[in-house]
Amino acid sequence: MKFYLDTASVKEIQEAASLGLLDGVTTNPSLVAKEGRVFREVLVEICNIVDGPISAEVVSIEADAMVKEGRELAKIHKNIVVKIPLIAEGLKATKRLTAEGIRVNVTLCFSPTQALLAAKAGAWCVSPFIGRLDDISSNGMELIRQIITIYKNYDYKTYVLVASVRHPQHVVEAALAGGHICTMPFTIFQQMVKHPLTDAGLKKFLADWESQNKKK
Ligand code: E4P
Repeated sequence: MKFYLDTASVKEIQEAASLGLLDGVTTNPSLVAKEGRVFREVLVEICNIVDGPISAEVVSIEADAMVKEGRELAKIHKNIVVKIPLIAEGLKATKRLTAEGIRVNVTLCFSPTQALLAAKAGAWCVSPFIGRLDDISSNGMELIRQIITIYKNYDYKTYVLVASVRHPQHVVEAALAGGHICTMPFTIFQQMVKHPLTDAGLKKFLADWESQNKKK
């Protein structure tokens, strides 16, 4: 499974990348707005830190404008994946950008029919938002399982990028379901490493080692 960070914070990306286990980054307009910086500058910095797919979202909602914006974003760096919302105009734009060899991440996916259409449009990946479905008492993980089955049935090459992840258990379930990529906030990336028994075990090992060495 590939791990992406879902953030536009260069500091967080630097810290996560230092582990050597970060495969890519996803951003969205809300995350970029939170940083209060020039979008293009942030993207260049991220691309210089992580040598993997970096999703950058268009803010137009009409196909021609999306294609224009997508081309501009793709010019910034070879690793940019253009993020397009899953609306009818977005599917048109996805088909056109894909035909030009630009990778598209079709985002804001909340149903299996939407995911089928994204794959048919040639999306490089689709982003089902599981946390937002759970938030409205729906079942986000069930959507992941359905999409994976559907894509396998028809041998679609579109990657399933599990998004809107809220806790480490989402990552576990996404991996069990066979999700190709999981994008998560930095806090969850950190939580994945931690276990209280690891900390307690290490503390004891070091204390035992220390007391034995004192006796010598
Ligand atoms: C994915 O690409 C999105 O940026 C993200 O996962 C949305 O997550 P949220 O529902 O926590 O905002």
